[in-house]
Amino acid sequence: MSASASVKSVTPPMVERRKGGTPLVCLTAYTTPVAAIADRHCDIILVGDSVGMVLHGLPSTLGVTLEMMILHGKAVRRGVEKALLVVDMPFGTYEESPEQAFRNAARLVAETGCAAVKLEGGVTMAETIRFLTRRGIPVMAHVGLTPQAVNSFGGYKVQGRGEDGERIVADARAVAEAGAFSVVLEKVPDALARRITAEVPIPTIGIGASAACDGQVLVIDDMLGMFTAFRPKFVKRYAELGHSAEAAVAAYAEDVRTRAFPAADHVFGDGADMSSLITPKAEGAE
Ligand code: KIV
Repeated sequence: MSASASVKSVTPPMVERRKGGTPLVCLTAYTTPVAAIADRHCDIILVGDSVGMVLHGLPSTLGVTLEMMILHGKAVRRGVEKALLVVDMPFGTYEESPEQAFRNAARLVAETGCAAVKLEGGVTMAETIRFLTRRGIPVMAHVGLTPQAVNSFGGYKVQGRGEDGERIVADARAVAEAGAFSVVLEKVPDALARRITAEVPIPTIGIGASAACDGQVLVIDDMLGMFTAFRPKFVKRYAELGHSAEAAVAAYAEDVRTRAFPAADHVFGDGADMSSLITPKAEGAE
């Protein structure tokens, strides 16, 4: 499915204008069918580098490549008609220089059809954000807990507690000044997220942050309950698909072992009755 002329897509400037308005709804997606569901309900769909952990079983996002993001970005693009499509820049594809970031961001935009990229980092990435935005690539920034820096943080810990909060405030201000159209605030104290949302002129998109943010984002597999082992505090589960999938697979295995599947409905006759195999002719066709 591609964006059709009749459907008005959400754009980065439209997102920026939503500051202080009805909260922006954002979810991650990595495949066409899931993107199509999310598109009917979300303002923004993010092809997050969380794809590495969620779909590929990687221990962190650090092993995610540009090729993986392009592959999943293209798949998601086919499911999106209306929402703003944002694709994450993976670790090692933008930190070296603004030129390196532009080269790789341009590939993401050209090859996936996304309208914006997301990259992690505040003050240190401001120059790069300015470089990209001035050259026609809208940037969603990401500050607070930036998972690509997990080794420097020593784990996926809450960021910005106590005096450390000033560091996150400075990061959020810097990315806004550099031209980012929105900023993800991940795993920071509620009061800090409220303060940043009040102080920066661009929408804040919270994950483990605050209801006061200008929008919220979740990893779709987390909110659908696809995992049974892992349950972050900041995730509200809206379904338990992991349990349903487990029960369905167990029932299938039992049916196969007991020859209950396939049943008469699922097998073909010897050709006497071919009606189910013949495609009806279109009206007026010869
Ligand atoms: O990779 C991702 O899914 C993200 C969101 C959690 C914000 O960066």
